[in-house]
Amino acid sequence: MTTPAEAAIRAEIARRGSIPFADFMSMALGHAEGGYYTAAAARTTRGGDFLTAPELHPVFGAALSRQLAEAWERLGRPAPFTLLEYGAGAGTLALAILAGLRDDGSRLADALAYAPVELNRHRLAELGARAAAAGLAVVDPAGADAAPIVGMILANEYLDALPVHLLEVRGGRPLEVRVTVGPDGALAETLDEPSDPTVRDRLERLAREGITLVEGQRLEVRPAVEAWAREVGRRLAAGLVLVLDYGAPAADLYGSRRRAGTLMTYRGHAAEGDAEAPYRDVGERDITAHVDITALGAALAGAGLDLLGETSQAELLVGCGLEELVQRRQAVLARASDALELRSAVMRLLDPRPLGGFRAVLAGRGIAAEPPLRGLSYRMPGTRSR
Ligand SMILES: C[S@@+](CC[C@H](N)C(=O)[O-])C[C@H]1O[C@@H](n2cnc3c(N)ncnc32)[C@H](O)[C@@H]1O
Repeated sequence: MTTPAEAAIRAEIARRGSIPFADFMSMALGHAEGGYYTAAAARTTRGGDFLTAPELHPVFGAALSRQLAEAWERLGRPAPFTLLEYGAGAGTLALAILAGLRDDGSRLADALAYAPVELNRHRLAELGARAAAAGLAVVDPAGADAAPIVGMILANEYLDALPVHLLEVRGGRPLEVRVTVGPDGALAETLDEPSDPTVRDRLERLAREGITLVEGQRLEVRPAVEAWAREVGRRLAAGLVLVLDYGAPAADLYGSRRRAGTLMTYRGHAAEGDAEAPYRDVGERDITAHVDITALGAALAGAGLDLLGETSQAELLVGCGLEELVQRRQAVLARASDALELRSAVMRLLDPRPLGGFRAVLAGRGIAAEPPLRGLSYRMPGTRSR
């Protein structure tokens, strides 16, 4: 059965001829009718397709609240202090941050304003009701009075959802994967020269970074991150930027370990990464790829922000006091099941393979970098400082 998103994509192909994979991904995820991220169904929960750290347990947000509180102190306790969150979902992370601030008795709880950027109107409606119930002031991030903020810009599992251009090395050159309708009527891939100058630019920079691509290798590049970094650069008057996502430095991402690239799809907690997966039940499954941390750092610096550091999510959480937060919570949890849930969440948050291995990138403007921020203050034994 053709899904509404696939029907829209087929109409686009009929109009334009083949389309870059990035346009296919953008429509599959974000199309107004039937896009994966525009639908009413909740995607990031236990009942959905995958579970994000904020949805796993509020202790994640409580730990991040410590990083916000430190930034607020370093900036001289401004009011309002705005949390601008990209891919805010139903506001679960912001509400856990607010609860964390209140538990710590931080005065920032009273100065906090929340500016959520979210594509999904169903999630935004939920967010509005939940924020009102919690007493969290919500401001429109795109409103006419949307002056640059003083505060923190946060993006948890947001950048991996931005569209990627997919490339395959043929005859020694990276060619771009385009999506078309094959002779049998099914969606199919064709290869052509990269059309977009920003893609060619990233490929040239990869060569300058000393990265050699091999015949048959598949890779993804994501110029949308550069546009996002420029927007962040314009929107932040002073404060911090924190990006949390799965990703790797370019040398690792495009190196010999990942010759098939990192494109992955998720549906019903099942990950499928075969070449046909993106074209199955279009709009009903997530399509995602790792974030190029080298390109992200360069884009943030290019947008005029100071790069403060990069670490793993696990190290960031420990640096923010996760252990003490867990002990404090355990002491007051009455039910054994709640204690068990907390312990199992912490294990998943710290496990270097799934969530703990996520990368955390911190950048800022007008904020003292020394002494190191809490989130950058802890290194797992045996890891190098970056
Ligand atoms: C993987 S979910 C993460 C949600 C939340 N940050 C979390 O960690 O639970 C990605 C979120 O980004 C939103 N999103 C995706 N593309 C977007 C876009 N272009 N603009 C705004 N939101 C977008 C999705 O609707 C979804 O809520």
